[in-house]
Amino acid sequence: SLLIFWNLPTTAQVTIEAQPTKVSEGKDVLLLVHNLPQNLTGYIWYKGQIMDYHHYITAYVIDPETIIFGPAYSGRETVYSNASLLIQNVTRNDTGSYTIKIIKRGDRTEGVTGHFTLYLETPKPSISSSNLNPREAVETVILSCDPDTPDASYWWWINGQSLRNSRTLQLSKNNRILILFIVTKDTVGPYECEMKNPVSASRSDPVTLNLLHGPDLPSIFPSLTDYRSGQNLYLSCFADSNPPAEYTWTINGKFLQSGPRLYIPQITTNHSGLYRCSVRNSATGSERSTFKTIRVS
Ligand SMILES: *[C@@H]1O[C@H](CO)[C@@H](O)[C@H](O)[C@H]1NC(C)=O
Ligand SMILES: *[C@@H]1O[C@H](CO)[C@@H](O)[C@H](O)[C@H]1NC(C)=O
Ligand SMILES: *[C@@H]1O[C@H](CO)[C@@H](O)[C@H](O)[C@H]1NC(C)=O
Ligand SMILES: *[C@@H]1O[C@H](CO)[C@@H](O)[C@H](O)[C@H]1NC(C)=O
Ligand SMILES: *[C@@H]1O[C@H](CO)[C@@H](O)[C@H](O)[C@H]1NC(C)=O
Repeated sequence: SLLIFWNLPTTAQVTIEAQPTKVSEGKDVLLLVHNLPQNLTGYIWYKGQIMDYHHYITAYVIDPETIIFGPAYSGRETVYSNASLLIQNVTRNDTGSYTIKIIKRGDRTEGVTGHFTLYLETPKPSISSSNLNPREAVETVILSCDPDTPDASYWWWINGQSLRNSRTLQLSKNNRILILFIVTKDTVGPYECEMKNPVSASRSDPVTLNLLHGPDLPSIFPSLTDYRSGQNLYLSCFADSNPPAEYTWTINGKFLQSGPRLYIPQITTNHSGLYRCSVRNSATGSERSTFKTIRVS
């Protein structure tokens, strides 16, 4: 929907008010002119603040009643005898300032002017990311808050807190684009962006980056190293990793099995040896391993 912002005109008397104050895109808005002076020749509405022919929308001449259309007329504007301007089927292009020039009878001056600024209510923005699965501390991520609307300002939140300047990030001139040079566990988000203009504000849904990291150095549990023949050997290996690591066990350099858990029932002395757990993250391409010596007596 659209929201209308009105401000005081340059003269004290003439004011412009939008009706309704909230208008949806595609709806109609009437710019009501209050406190019109008397004994008028007519009015001219301009798009923008420059009162030249190029910006001339429409004019109303009182006697004889005549309506004139200018180059800025879109076919959707109607001027009434009381100077009010109806804009039908409002589009984004209709946002911005409007000027009315009121010409008094016999007045050879520039007349009286009034200004009005129309803002679109900001749509709900959305965040898009150049990379939703960045590798930890390696890849740069570019987040943008869409859509790009010239009259809006942009604001960012991370973990519900207003984004602070830091050496690992950079914002574009209008804040719409956020560049994260390094992403760590602390900076995966959730990110939210907000679009604001003088009359409205709206916030995006949160976006959290899926940080690809690890694997960390794996650990083997339990820490027990001495076993007796006939006991069951149960070892598990864990390494923090996203996505989860692939696990491989070897004994004395020979492949034993895949998977994080190793179970050998009723071990004998020849199960003694160097047990190695290797972990690999196929997304980050990193691999690490740790080992443990088991003695079976
Ligand atoms: C002016 O005319 C329009 C159209 O007839 C009407 O809706 C509006 O209430 C009138 N009054 C003012 C103050 O503009
Ligand atoms: C309007 O014009 C009439 C006749 O020219 C004059 O009598 C009247 O005082 C004027 N009113 C204003 C408010 O200027
Ligand atoms: C406004 O839009 C409707 C539907 O798109 C259309 O039928 C109508 O003619 C439009 N009116 C003007 C004044 O452009
Ligand atoms: C808005 O203005 C641009 C440039 O003048 C034009 O290309 C576009 O069609 C307009 N959009 C609407 C909805 O009127
Ligand atoms: C373990 O030792 C026994 C007897 O010494 C032998 O028969 C068996 O093949 C060995 N197993 C392995 C896996 O080396």
